Amino acid sequence: MTETTKESIDFKVIDDILKSFEYKKSYLIAMLQKVQEVFRYLPEEAMTYIGEHIDGLSPATVYGVATFYAQFSLEPKGKYEIKVCDGTACHVRGSMPVLNAIRNKLKLKEGQTTCENGLFSLEIVSCLGACGLAPVCVINDKVYPQMTSDAISTILDTLMKEEGVNI
Ligand code: FES
Repeated sequence: MTETTKESIDFKVIDDILKSFEYKKSYLIAMLQKVQEVFRYLPEEAMTYIGEHIDGLSPATVYGVATFYAQFSLEPKGKYEIKVCDGTACHVRGSMPVLNAIRNKLKLKEGQTTCENGLFSLEIVSCLGACGLAPVCVINDKVYPQMTSDAISTILDTLMKEEGVNI
């Protein structure tokens, strides 16, 4: 996984991705998915680069596609992507206290979705299709059932300890 900041976009990595899709505009979505997989979001510079290096595209077109699809993030995501379900079943069974516990633990300010050191990002999602396990959280691909504020705090503590950080 390539670590990046807005100042350190590795255009060679982006070009290799474009090359693997033969610089064809019909593969734009797949290219964007790959760029996001590498950088964990779509850096503006990457979208501009793609728009300028693929025949028939422009930076504006690429940006338009990237903002149209919910799967794409224009902001950096954390190494750990936390999703809290706030569908009806999860909401009724206490997703809000869980969400607040995460925000407090990660010291997220209003509107902030990724913590300062970039380790965790937080997203609220609608029904994950596991209502019987409500309230549900997902961290990367792992599902955490029947969450409470205490349980999610312990999970985050464990992950922080593994990463050797304290937020
Ligand atoms: S409402 Fe949360 S999993 Fe269905």
